[in-house]
Amino acid sequence: MADAAEVLERKLAARDKTIAALMKRVEGASANNNNAFSTFEQNIRLEQVVARKTEELKAAQDRLLREIEVQRALEVELRHAQKLEAVGRLAAGVAHEINTPVQYVSDSLSFVREALADLSRYIQCSRELSAAVIAAEPAHASAQGCQELAEEVDLDYLLENLAPAVDRALDGLGRVASIVRALKRFAHPGSAQMAPADLNEAVASTLTIAANEYKYVAELVTDYGELPLVTCHLGDLNQAVLNLVVNAAHAIADVVADSGARGTITVRTLHDGDHVQIEIGDTGGGIPDEIRERIFEPFFTTKDVGRGTGQGLAIARSVVHDDHGGELSFVSERGRGTTFRIRLPVMPQRSS
Ligand SMILES: Nc1ncnc2c1ncn2[C@@H]1O[C@H](COP(=O)(O)OP(=O)(O)O)[C@@H](O)[C@H]1O
Ligand SMILES: [Mg+2]
Repeated sequence: MADAAEVLERKLAARDKTIAALMKRVEGASANNNNAFSTFEQNIRLEQVVARKTEELKAAQDRLLREIEVQRALEVELRHAQKLEAVGRLAAGVAHEINTPVQYVSDSLSFVREALADLSRYIQCSRELSAAVIAAEPAHASAQGCQELAEEVDLDYLLENLAPAVDRALDGLGRVASIVRALKRFAHPGSAQMAPADLNEAVASTLTIAANEYKYVAELVTDYGELPLVTCHLGDLNQAVLNLVVNAAHAIADVVADSGARGTITVRTLHDGDHVQIEIGDTGGGIPDEIRERIFEPFFTTKDVGRGTGQGLAIARSVVHDDHGGELSFVSERGRGTTFRIRLPVMPQRSS
């Protein structure tokens, strides 16, 4: 795209030169040849040349605009496909993330249910006891029965553990709810218009649903600065952040391999005047010098098929740079790790 614009610029410059050269010739001709008719003829020829050149350039410009449009549409499609792919891949991880709390909700409720059965037996027994006492009947045997039952069902244990079991179940449900909320936020189709958004909340949601991608290889450290609402296409930014987080997890996984060691992913946000920054750092192997120039190229990947498609950074760059007028940069040190930084205007100039 940029290349095509440059070519057009060069052509325009060439046209200006041609015109300048022709003017010189006309001037030269009129200086040493006072023949008015020949000057007139030259002028006509000059105008014809200019008109033809202008037409050609106009056609070239139209072609270029059409090409740009086609490319835009392709880019949107590509981005959409990558998002679907990411959501698909995350689905397995999210299912797993939800499954764990669901498991302990289920265990806790089983305990509560059994405890209730034991408690009802005990309550039944103590009712019989109090009925006997009220009727002034001999209640000794009944009381004895109650006591034995209390021991049999371990009444103290039940009473001690019922409330915590319910709390565990509530915790688990809270966890499930927060994962579902995060997923909804992430997958939100978003509007065509930019809208003010809480980027800390968005980053936290993205980290929640991507947890399964990194939690086996990395500790997550977050440092959320106070941010103003940022006017943006939130869904696209979520995708960019996700791509960076997945890359960080991959870089760490490559370093720790099967050693059982874990790296660290550090996510920071901060407010800097009329910009905000989101930084995603990893303790992976760093980016080799020889590929630094290439990592943002669409389809450039050093990963096996299935693990990488080479689109993550190309899309992140296009979202941050082209759509939001921001910057996507990185610092990387071999053997120590890499930090990617998204820098965004709080209020973008372009409203595409
Ligand atoms: N955090 C990182 N650490 C090391 N290398 C990275 C990191 N992020 C990206 N890369 C390199 O850049 C390449 C392109 O990344 P990306 O566009 O996300 O595609 P993919 O992850 O599918 O390979 C990766 O294959 C990898 O070589
Ligand atoms: Mg990637």
